[in-house]
Amino acid sequence: MRIMIGKIGEWFDRRLQLAAPIREVAEHPVPRNTASWFYVFGSAALTVFLLQLVTGILLALMFIRAMHGWGSNFMVAIVLIHMAQVFLFGAHKYPRELTWIVGVFLLLMTLGMAFTGQIMRFDQDAYWGLGIGASIASRVPIIGPAVVKLMLGGPIIAGATLSRFFALHVFVIPGMLIAFVGLHLLMVIKLGINEWPMPGRIVKRATYEAEYLGRPGSPIRQSSRLRPNQITFSCGFTLCFHSFRHRLKHRSFSSSHL
Ligand code: HEM
Repeated sequence: MRIMIGKIGEWFDRRLQLAAPIREVAEHPVPRNTASWFYVFGSAALTVFLLQLVTGILLALMFIRAMHGWGSNFMVAIVLIHMAQVFLFGAHKYPRELTWIVGVFLLLMTLGMAFTGQIMRFDQDAYWGLGIGASIASRVPIIGPAVVKLMLGGPIIAGATLSRFFALHVFVIPGMLIAFVGLHLLMVIKLGINEWPMPGRIVKRATYEAEYLGRPGSPIRQSSRLRPNQITFSCGFTLCFHSFRHRLKHRSFSSSHL
């Protein structure tokens, strides 16, 4: 059986040529002290993002709105924590400035997903949320009224508004998010993981590469980011949120909420 699976794997790999790059990434050395809980938030954001993709697709088939809704709150929170961690550890500096800039777009897109997602329920929250969004957009000098019309698909909040936000929530922003997450991860793999900030250890452009590569490292697969505890951490938190929501709902939430 094992030989047969091996042969099938070999058949695919000869055509896909994926085993070598995957092995290379898994063996890629990263600083030893990055095997720490401080570094889990990027992969936690990735895990929650993948969960959102799966629950979003499932929502088209069955009613699991609470999981997707709480997952979205959780994704916003975890992306903000990840952003705070990389900033506090100085990972936004040379040579990771572009990783940070792509990250800023990822944050804007995550917020865009949360906003457009809220509209999907098309209830009172969606209506008043849209009202606030439209009045903010209307304040843009000169083109404000045109932006509002473009946003709402007409002069008022109506069916056309929902179609527009559906297209943004289901096609446009997720497509861009997938592309930008791919780019973000490519840079993380290419540039390696930022080290702990240490008093007196100044990052100098001229010597950075030699110093970074000169320090002993461990393969990335041994560092915390690929360990199953991170997946458990992310899923565990999502589930905690889910149960918390359940308790709230049974105490005071009306059935129209999530
Ligand atoms: C959808 C949202 C995001 C996902 C899925 C994501 C994913 C990741 C992953 C998996 C890593 C490598 C592991 C780590 O160091 O934590 C990483 C690193 C990084 N991310 Fe993000 N990220 C997101 C948003 C952001 C945001 C909003 C920012 C900042 C504005 C940001 C800036 C960075 C930087 C600078 C690094 C390099 C950190 C280092 O080398 O230690 N990311 N990201």
